[in-house]
Amino acid sequence: MANGKVDALLGIVFGDEGKGKVVDFFTPRYDIVARFAGGPNAGHTIIFNGKKFVLRSIPSGIFDEGKLNIIGNGCVVAPDLFMLEAQELEQAGYDLKNRLHISNRAHLILPTHRVLDRALEASKGKNKVGTTGKGIGPTYSEKAARTGLRVGDIAGSFQEKYEALKQNHLRQIANLGYTDFDITEEEQTWLRGVEYMRGFVLTDTETALNEALAQGKRILAEGAQGTLLDIDHGTYPFVSSSSTTCGGVCTGLGVPPRAIGEVFGIFKAYSTRVGAGPFPVELFDETGDRIRDIGREYGAVTGRNRRCGWLDLVALRHTIVINGVTQLIMMKSDVLDSFPVIKACVAYEKDGVRTQTMPYDTEGWQAVYEELPGWQADLTQCKTEEELPQKFKDYVAYIERQVGCPITILSVGPDREQTIVRSL
Ligand code: IMP
Repeated sequence: MANGKVDALLGIVFGDEGKGKVVDFFTPRYDIVARFAGGPNAGHTIIFNGKKFVLRSIPSGIFDEGKLNIIGNGCVVAPDLFMLEAQELEQAGYDLKNRLHISNRAHLILPTHRVLDRALEASKGKNKVGTTGKGIGPTYSEKAARTGLRVGDIAGSFQEKYEALKQNHLRQIANLGYTDFDITEEEQTWLRGVEYMRGFVLTDTETALNEALAQGKRILAEGAQGTLLDIDHGTYPFVSSSSTTCGGVCTGLGVPPRAIGEVFGIFKAYSTRVGAGPFPVELFDETGDRIRDIGREYGAVTGRNRRCGWLDLVALRHTIVINGVTQLIMMKSDVLDSFPVIKACVAYEKDGVRTQTMPYDTEGWQAVYEELPGWQADLTQCKTEEELPQKFKDYVAYIERQVGCPITILSVGPDREQTIVRSL
């Protein structure tokens, strides 16, 4: 963590790495916390002063007084959901207006984007992506097609632009033959959300960020989703629509590559995935069910069961390289406490071909595992590295050797205190 740098905190698998637990370790060390990609498809569960919050669009630094939080240009914002999220925080006593700036270049999610999301999914039959239904894909598509509305548009003659875009969406929805929707109420809340957003600083956030860097301030770029859901580097087409990688930090905040400092990559001691798409390590047996039950692997946004499997070192090697990860953070280690044998996927195999690097399409590849002895001890009681069972330390060292990157933070239980920092 250095002055005048942007450090990135990134989920490097399929999202849901449990980042919410470590952000309060990170945020006090930074002056600014900024989101650079995604929108309300994210659900970051944070417990602050004993109260649980699910942050969707708002950065996790919002709980710290005197900290600036930024929703960057690479994000998409749904005014109605933003309003509900922000009001919950305001009711809990957090003064958002002075702590949160929103990029005027971030794109707006309209109610009809959400209908389009559902209509497109319905039209895909068995090729459904399994989206969160928050309108993410249609909004980013529209951004690329140069027809979207941006946060800055709220300031001008907004109603006309909104109506025109809405009518365009309604035509697209009719063309898809999708009729199962009624946005009347949703639209009213959405328009109230637009009014509510006007009370915030809607600005050129990249200017503030670059000025802060020039003054030697520290910025934390808070990722959402994960690298394997990245539009370029994920398991396309079963991905989200934004740039969730370290490259996305630069484009999504308007900061130069030379400003990037540490890149923290978060992963769990095992794998999960929500939604459709290839997942070579997926377990369909009792072991998968046990990981899900012990790890409470149910989606924060949609409540769906997460698909579970052993750690995928092929995927990790790939995402560490793509992001230039400098330090790894392993979450939920204690979930594996009771397993006599721990497996790790070291290669994929298909039609007699074996690969240790991530193929273009991971569909149909089988995981090749190595087995390690489980530690069968209660990690949640360990407060220091010395107290950790040797077999767990061996698992950690094994992963480090396999992926060529140090694991500097180990999460050994759900509570904030159950975190072991090895060296930073
Ligand atoms: P979308 O982002 O709603 O378009 O969904 C695309 C894919 O990304 C689906 O498989 C979702 O389940 C997945 N996804 C989106 N956001 C998250 C997240 O925050 N955690 C995990 N998976 C996500």
